Amino acid sequence: VSPIGLTTEPSRSDAEELDALDPLGASRDLFEIDDVGAIYLDGNSLGRLSQLTRARLADAVDEWGRRLIEGWQDWYRLAVHVGDRLAATVLGAGPGQVAVTDSTTVNLYKLADAALAARPGRRVIVGDREDFPTDRYVLEGLAAARGAALRLLESDPVEGIDLDALAAAVDRDTALVCLSHVNYRSAARAEMAAVSELAHRKGALMLWDLSHSAGAVPLHLDDDGADLAVGCTYKYLNAGPGSPAYLYVRHELQRQLRQPIWGWFGQRDQFAMGQGYDPEPDIRRFLAGTPAVLGLVAVDAGIEPFAQAGIDRLWAKSQALTSLLIQLHDAWLAPLGCRLASPRDPGRRAAHVSIGHHEGWRLCRALIERAGVIPDFRAPDVIRLGPAPLYSRFVDVWDACDRLRRLLQSGEYLTVDASRRPVT
Ligand SMILES: Cc1ncc(COP(=O)(O)O)c(C=O)c1O
Repeated sequence: VSPIGLTTEPSRSDAEELDALDPLGASRDLFEIDDVGAIYLDGNSLGRLSQLTRARLADAVDEWGRRLIEGWQDWYRLAVHVGDRLAATVLGAGPGQVAVTDSTTVNLYKLADAALAARPGRRVIVGDREDFPTDRYVLEGLAAARGAALRLLESDPVEGIDLDALAAAVDRDTALVCLSHVNYRSAARAEMAAVSELAHRKGALMLWDLSHSAGAVPLHLDDDGADLAVGCTYKYLNAGPGSPAYLYVRHELQRQLRQPIWGWFGQRDQFAMGQGYDPEPDIRRFLAGTPAVLGLVAVDAGIEPFAQAGIDRLWAKSQALTSLLIQLHDAWLAPLGCRLASPRDPGRRAAHVSIGHHEGWRLCRALIERAGVIPDFRAPDVIRLGPAPLYSRFVDVWDACDRLRRLLQSGEYLTVDASRRPVT
């Protein structure tokens, strides 16, 4: 499906036709969607609940009640079993390199610290000033704790990382380059292979945050030279609020790296209860404590629709959805004071589209309260619209842009309560 060939101002029936032709249209039926009339465009923050996930979680709760402690005979390996499925279906990685565990923040800390320890003569960490706050904070904390220097790229807020600026920032004193593959605010997408190669040329390790990539864009971690990666499962992967994150450690590096949390789930022959930490030689050494079993079950169920639809087909639909959104932005919203805050070039963009407006917060609240469109807002002035190709339709994009246009034309957005809310 592609909106190529549509006029510059696609009509609602053009959008309906794209839906009718969409080979993935039926995957919407896998999800629980009872908010008739409301348009959910925040799957890039918290994905929808699928019927399979609800059923698997109910089964898992039953199993807990029935099997009690005996259940652990199967549950204790879930982190790596689900990791292997995620690796094969979504991450472009071979088995034995991914574990689903802890949060993105904690995994980032574990892997970044392990990387710094593996490059003892080097004292620089390269990050990105435009990166998600938790990434910057973790790197700041590590730099402070290890007496290292944190060098932050001054990336373009819309276009993202510039390869020349990165090349100038990475030198022989750089231990680690840590970047998001897709920027959380603008959806700018980095070139994974080129960036990883650049880090390696200077002898640094490369750590990617895939939170806005996994389940949205095709990933080839093994082929594209990633050393390390982390990411969350509650966005495009639909595993639910607070579901466990994942980490990837390339095979060749696993024995060289030692993470800072020496817990019993990383220990060789765990139930020998021995003295002294002696970690497993494989991906299990990056585990720490007891896994969140219910969350792991939800991650496993969340992978299923991707196994069925295939990430390449989802990506093709995603690009068509965001292209339509940008066409409508140009035709309707730009003349009303909006600006595109995502890369225009589809080769540099991921799966959401950000629209900037000086009253962005008020507009976002008006979309939710007055127009039944659910995006989110990122300071200082950006509304993120995230159509998820598994369940968002072309008419959703058309209607959302149409409702936003009407709010702008009428000025109704100026009448909403603009007080700050704890979560934006
Ligand atoms: C790029 C990125 N990294 C990390 C996180 C969150 O990490 P955690 O799950 O530890 O809160 C987010 C959340 O939106 C994110 O967008």
